[in-house]
Amino acid sequence: MKQQNEPDIQLEQWNPPVKEWGPVYKAIFRAFGMIWKAGKVETCVLFFLMLIQGLLPVFILYLSKDAINMVIAIADTNDQSFGDAAPLLIALALATVVMQIMEPIFLLVKSVLGDKMRRYVALLVMETANQHPGIAHFEDPKLHDQLQRVRRVEGSSADLVIYAFQAGSDFWALISVAIFLSLFHPLAPPLLMFCALPYALAHYKYANLFGIALQFQAPEARKLDYFRNQFLSHDTAKDVRIFGLHDFFFGKYRRIFTRILSVLWSVRKHEFRTLSLYALFGGAAVCAVYVTLFQQTIRGELSVGELTAYAGAVLVIWTSMSTSLFNFAFMHRTGGFLTHLYDFLKRKPVIKMVPKEFAKPAPYPFQKGIAFRNVSFTYPNTDRKILDRISLNIYPGETVAIVGKNGAGKTTLVKLITRMYDPSDGDIHLDNVPIHHYDLDDLRSQMSVVDQGFLKYQLSAQENIGLGNIDRLSELDHIKAAAEKAGADFINQLPNGYETVLSRQFEDGTELSGGQWQKIALARALTRDAQLLILDEPTAALDVRSEHDIYARFQELTKEKTTVLISHRMSTVRMAERILVLDDGKVIEEGTHEKLMKDNGLYARLYTLQAEHYNV
Ligand SMILES: Nc1ncnc2c1ncn2[C@@H]1O[C@H](COP(=O)(O)OP(=O)(O)OP(=O)(O)O)[C@@H](O)[C@H]1O
Ligand SMILES: [Mg+2]
Repeated sequence: MKQQNEPDIQLEQWNPPVKEWGPVYKAIFRAFGMIWKAGKVETCVLFFLMLIQGLLPVFILYLSKDAINMVIAIADTNDQSFGDAAPLLIALALATVVMQIMEPIFLLVKSVLGDKMRRYVALLVMETANQHPGIAHFEDPKLHDQLQRVRRVEGSSADLVIYAFQAGSDFWALISVAIFLSLFHPLAPPLLMFCALPYALAHYKYANLFGIALQFQAPEARKLDYFRNQFLSHDTAKDVRIFGLHDFFFGKYRRIFTRILSVLWSVRKHEFRTLSLYALFGGAAVCAVYVTLFQQTIRGELSVGELTAYAGAVLVIWTSMSTSLFNFAFMHRTGGFLTHLYDFLKRKPVIKMVPKEFAKPAPYPFQKGIAFRNVSFTYPNTDRKILDRISLNIYPGETVAIVGKNGAGKTTLVKLITRMYDPSDGDIHLDNVPIHHYDLDDLRSQMSVVDQGFLKYQLSAQENIGLGNIDRLSELDHIKAAAEKAGADFINQLPNGYETVLSRQFEDGTELSGGQWQKIALARALTRDAQLLILDEPTAALDVRSEHDIYARFQELTKEKTTVLISHRMSTVRMAERILVLDDGKVIEEGTHEKLMKDNGLYARLYTLQAEHYNV
């Protein structure tokens, strides 16, 4: 059943205005550039094979005409021996063998080039995604639609090679055979082409229409992927079972798929009706040429050899007209998807950057620290101000705690410091220089973050920790030292120690508990010798003893570092030298634990509430 507020997509919507086709042709040309870059040798070989393959039909038709005439002459008159026809028959046999052999060779080279093209495009997409220094674009639904379409380009980029060269060889065959048929009658090829044109163009149109239909459905297709993954992903398997969500996701999946199918079915119905009609029209022209051919043969104006060859030529023209346009339509369709790839490649970084050559190296050590000056922030494409004209300082070497209710904007503050986003208003300075003046890679190398939503990589324990400092990934001693600081000594007890893969989805892998994962994330942050350590709820999942152990060594962990600590545990927060209280997008209190308790504001209330809770 169709759900409310899921409007039907009308077929007319997909008929692109002609003016939008320009970029598609451009995309096809650029696609050729990509094919060339993906495999130069294969492209040259294919081009050469394409020419031969396109010429073979006319060659065979020509030879068969003479061969049949000669064989008939031998049979009729007996004044020529079979040996006289031998050279012709051998040439014909050779041409036929070459045509047969060409097919698998053509296929092999096309497949090899197709595979290379797929790799080329996939790498290009990954590289492009990585060129974006911030993360705001990942929150733009349009980007995800674009990525969905780009993923299709990856899949169909290999086909592009096949269609392009097939269209080329069909077109070449069409021209050469048409010239051959004009020997029979100069008007026969144009007549046939004219009558085959509606059919071929309709083929072209519908192949395109399907492509456009698929493009329009990118948001729907993304939902399909999402709902399907709820069944296939380890992460969601638990919830689906506990809450009995099978029917819910299954129903959504089926409804969307049915909707997509109904749209495609309506295109197919149109296609069937139109193609049948045009096929009749084209068929009439083929019949007219055949009738003339037979009449002339009966009148003795054409030999049997000519009749056979011209009849064959008629068929070649008919099929190559429609297949070349059909293949061209597929190119057009893939080209349409390619325009999305180019749009994706053209996306500009959304955070401010100075050109690399003018960017400053990150200061070492920090002199003045970080300063927020009247910083406001609203997430892209939303209206709510999360931070409202905030001014604050984080001085070198100090530990600053940030507290506030859920949703107060603490993690958002971290995202601004790490330059995932730029402030909507105001400036962030580091040592009195706007933070975007620093080389971003260098700046980030001076920061280490335990993220609230830290990642669980399906890699070994060593790699899971070592990714925090990729240059020292292979230095096990260094990694072990970080693990020890984070209290992750349980790694030694894993089946393969540091080499154990932390996922049950791989052979001999293991799964960790929530707290153990958190220790891994903390160790990951500690592998990096960064000046700024940001801990966003670093111990929320730890047992009391582990948390105590870590905070007992807190001074040591944060020695000579500037530390930003975000935590809801007030016993932890009070260890900080300075505490900032965030509420309603503003810093409403600031000071040491003692000062804030004396001020008796929100901090004191939160602290007392938690303390009372323990004292019951
Ligand atoms: N990517 C985003 N796009 C739009 N709004 C967002 C985004 N991330 C967070 N928000 C909103 O910004 C507000 C602040 O979120 P933030 O994650 O900074 O809170 P927090 O103080 O870290 O909360 P918590 O204590 O729960 O971790 C929330 O209201 C949240 O809904
Ligand atoms: Mg948070």
